[in-house]
Amino acid sequence: MDKRKLGTNGPEVSAIGLGCMSMTGGYSDKPDRREMISLIRTAVDRGVTFFDTAEIYGPYANEELVGEALAPYQDQVLIATKFGWDIDPVERKPRGRVTSRPEVIKHVVDGSLQRLGVDTIDLYYQHRVDPDVPIEDVAGAVKDLIEAGKVKHFGMSEAAAGTIRRAHAVQSLTAVQNEYSLWWRRPEEEVLAACEELGIGFVPYSPLGKGFLTGTITASTNFDASNDIRSTIPRFSPEALLHNQAVVDLLASIAQRKGATPGQIALAWLLAQKPWIVPIPGTRKLHRLEENIGAAGVDLSRDELAEIEAAASKIQVQGGRYNEAAERMTNL
Ligand SMILES: NC(=O)c1ccc[n+]([C@@H]2O[C@H](COP(=O)([O-])OP(=O)(O)OC[C@H]3O[C@@H](n4cnc5c(N)ncnc54)[C@H](OP(=O)(O)O)[C@@H]3O)[C@@H](O)[C@H]2O)c1
Repeated sequence: MDKRKLGTNGPEVSAIGLGCMSMTGGYSDKPDRREMISLIRTAVDRGVTFFDTAEIYGPYANEELVGEALAPYQDQVLIATKFGWDIDPVERKPRGRVTSRPEVIKHVVDGSLQRLGVDTIDLYYQHRVDPDVPIEDVAGAVKDLIEAGKVKHFGMSEAAAGTIRRAHAVQSLTAVQNEYSLWWRRPEEEVLAACEELGIGFVPYSPLGKGFLTGTITASTNFDASNDIRSTIPRFSPEALLHNQAVVDLLASIAQRKGATPGQIALAWLLAQKPWIVPIPGTRKLHRLEENIGAAGVDLSRDELAEIEAAASKIQVQGGRYNEAAERMTNL
């Protein structure tokens, strides 16, 4: 697998990483733990060196899973995790609000280190910007953790360009992780330019549009309201899915010509945007992991990229990418 550098001075990682979030739930079922450990290890065998988790996934269970799976490979891989959601540590339940007070960050880091079974967290993202804590204080807390040897690199998620700049002035950022794909292009407005200027790597999350861009979801797909976050997302309503099918049709038409899949074109399109972009598609299935990794070998020509651009510009994607409450918790 090709390697990419996360920003100007950042570490080198596989061009495509693996998002591990859904391995402990969130998208319908909760997969078998042993199978997920085996899947993560197969990803390493296939050349993936960049793994994404967070304290809130599970909560805690995802870090435990990723830590156990990658224990034999610690010196070969980069594990990214995130702080910033308030969690009841006894109940292991989210409290539904963010928290990035410096003393909290300095406390919860030890839990992440322990669950991951590592001495240092390779990349530590603030998961959501906390409107009640100046970003300089957050960056200062992470700077202290870096000086203490508990963290190697600092990242932010769903942060706006201005916040990124302020944080970076206190502690240089290695990566920004925001949602980005052909059906959510907000990073193009400001954040990508800020990353380029400051030499920060960019990690698109939900690069397959939470599965939609692979062409395996249709207006009749049922999302279980009890355990599938997509049941709460406006653009996954049957009407929106029907309308947004135009995006998948576009990917499918290019894919057919190139002997690829729509999901691979979605990932190849992201890779083609900038050499310091590293998407982290998530899957719980080996054949899909292989398909997604295969996208690193799909090159889109200048003409193909222009064709995608022209066609995409005529499609008005319908429905929010989050419900209103979740969107408000972003910094955008
Ligand atoms: N920073 C943040 O706030 C944030 C938010 C969301 C996610 N993330 C990170 O980003 C990672 C990826 O995002 P995501 O999981 O939301 O979305 P995604 O990677 O865009 O899509 C994942 C979905 O697509 C399906 N899928 C994957 N590969 C496929 C293929 N080749 N063909 C058909 N379906 C396929 C998966 O189902 P199967 O599992 O059944 O294959 C899953 O339902 C997460 O694991 C997490 O680490 C971060």
